[in-house]
Amino acid sequence: MFFVNGAKELATDFPSRPPMETIHTVAWMKQVAAEARQNGQILGLVPTMGALHEGHLSLVRVAQQRCSPIVVSIFVNPKQFGPTEDFQKYPRTLDADRALLEKLGADYLFAPRADEMYPAGFRTAVVVEELGERLEGRSRPGHFRGVTTVVLKLLEVVQPRLAFFGRKDAQQVRIIQQMTGDLNLDTEIVVLPIVREVDGLALSSRNAYLNAGERAAATVLYRSLEAARREIAAGERDAAHLLQEVHRVIDSEPNLALDYAEIVDADTFEPVLSLRNTCYALIAARIGATRLIDNALIEPAGQSFEVTL
Ligand code: PAJ
Repeated sequence: MFFVNGAKELATDFPSRPPMETIHTVAWMKQVAAEARQNGQILGLVPTMGALHEGHLSLVRVAQQRCSPIVVSIFVNPKQFGPTEDFQKYPRTLDADRALLEKLGADYLFAPRADEMYPAGFRTAVVVEELGERLEGRSRPGHFRGVTTVVLKLLEVVQPRLAFFGRKDAQQVRIIQQMTGDLNLDTEIVVLPIVREVDGLALSSRNAYLNAGERAAATVLYRSLEAARREIAAGERDAAHLLQEVHRVIDSEPNLALDYAEIVDADTFEPVLSLRNTCYALIAARIGATRLIDNALIEPAGQSFEVTL
């Protein structure tokens, strides 16, 4: 066989994989997804807002192990940003994102425009009660309503067998699980671990906002959760004492304004008094103009607890 202009290298690199297709319309996405389902294929969906980093890519890799084909959506969803939040300046790097996904071998990139998802006259919202009102919901009114509305639409358009989310946004994924259960959706929600920088900072598209000083200060979120982990390993079970330790570390960093630090039941997201069932230590803070969140998963393990950062 004869190839021109380096096409041979390309062909040998990716022997039988067709190039990734970028889809911009709901109608075409629905058709492609429906055909895959009719062919008996196992569709996977990875919803994102783009500015892709290793956290997102880790979801894509697991999706590829469990599904074929996979759809990665990139949509900076205006409905989940408050009026004073960073919707305008949220990083938009579609070309770089597309190149990363192509290299990874994703099958479809679904990148609708805002008026494709929310055409004039759009009036519906999805609200998960109670779970969406605390913590992130209280700090960011309307945020989860925007998240659940767009995620339900994405799940409805693609109707994947599995959809992949990061534990980085623990409350978000709990709310999405509640929604898919309550609404009898057939999609299984898969939750995957937090990907961190070597110094512990959880990867986030918003880390791009941090200057050098802020970037250094940002590790205090991780360090405060680490401190809680040490206390738990030493036998501490009292939530107030654990939070005291978290605050002690947070207070050591003057450039950081704490929004909340709480230990909550992993199911109800209500605060707990002491460790018993699976729970989360959740933390949200502002560094300069940037708001960051992080969490630790605390699970009973025999007589003790396993803490996963
Ligand atoms: P986005 O912030 O782009 O995140 C997309 C997915 O990547 C989410 O499931 C998030 O939890 C996961 N993720 C982000 N950082 C991660 C990290 N460091 N490690 C592991 N996973 C990580 O979350 C959203 O977009 C939106 O709210 C969305 C669900 C797409 C709805 O608009």
